[in-house]
Amino acid sequence: MNIKKPEIIVCKDEPALYQKACNAFVKIAGESIRDRGSFNVALSGGRTPAPLYECLCSQETREKIDWARVNFFWGDERCVPPDDAESNFRMAKEKLLNKLNIPEENIHRIKGELGEQGAHEYEEELKAFFQLGAGQMPRFDLVLLGMGGDGHIASLFPGGTAVSEEVSMVAAQYVEKLKALRITLTPPVITSARNIIFLVKGREKSPTLYEVLRGKFDPVRLPAQLTFLSEGSSTWFVDKEAALLLKDLQGNGAPGAPD
Ligand code: 6PG
Repeated sequence: MNIKKPEIIVCKDEPALYQKACNAFVKIAGESIRDRGSFNVALSGGRTPAPLYECLCSQETREKIDWARVNFFWGDERCVPPDDAESNFRMAKEKLLNKLNIPEENIHRIKGELGEQGAHEYEEELKAFFQLGAGQMPRFDLVLLGMGGDGHIASLFPGGTAVSEEVSMVAAQYVEKLKALRITLTPPVITSARNIIFLVKGREKSPTLYEVLRGKFDPVRLPAQLTFLSEGSSTWFVDKEAALLLKDLQGNGAPGAPD
């Protein structure tokens, strides 16, 4: 098993975190479009990405990406209607897609409102879009991820069945602690990505971030560690609060130390 530790960028504050992540997104998008003519990205849900989406559609950044060549997918979705306050699609639509007039055909929403059927339809959409043969996995140019306080990513939760899925691309996962059904990309899809970007901020995540990055490799207990198996690049943009316990990264000049 090839475990590859990621690059960790400790940012002095939230504005620095979002600007660096925005720059990385623009760079990956430009390289993908240059090399393959398109940029296929799986967006993250939760609250953390919202300022990144706002940065991407700001006057100074929006012109840096040829948005007509960008295809938007999601890493996971809540099983709610697309206009629900909990919907990851709705958040991205409001903060990013509506402001960039993205063509409908470039938006590949997970139909969370359909539950298990939504997972099946999303898997069929991935197979068709990426023109996959039997056993092949879609290869996103970028998978954007957050990390929950329990170490979950997308809707791959500790001890959940989806964390150990190796064949399907998409899973419907009932999350006991949330008493909610979720739809999520599975580990083989996430680890096939050319690039992974994490956004993690806040002191409340510092113990989990420390355990994920410095503790024993146990991805069923800490699903964020699944990304150590990824074939591509993996970069964590974290603020100083979240990196509080990562003492080796706090000094000046240390690799990943805050600038
Ligand atoms: C979701 C996300 C989830 C999120 C983490 C962190 O649907 O909620 O995909 O994996 O990234 O829970 O959430 P915050 O960014 O809100 O802390």
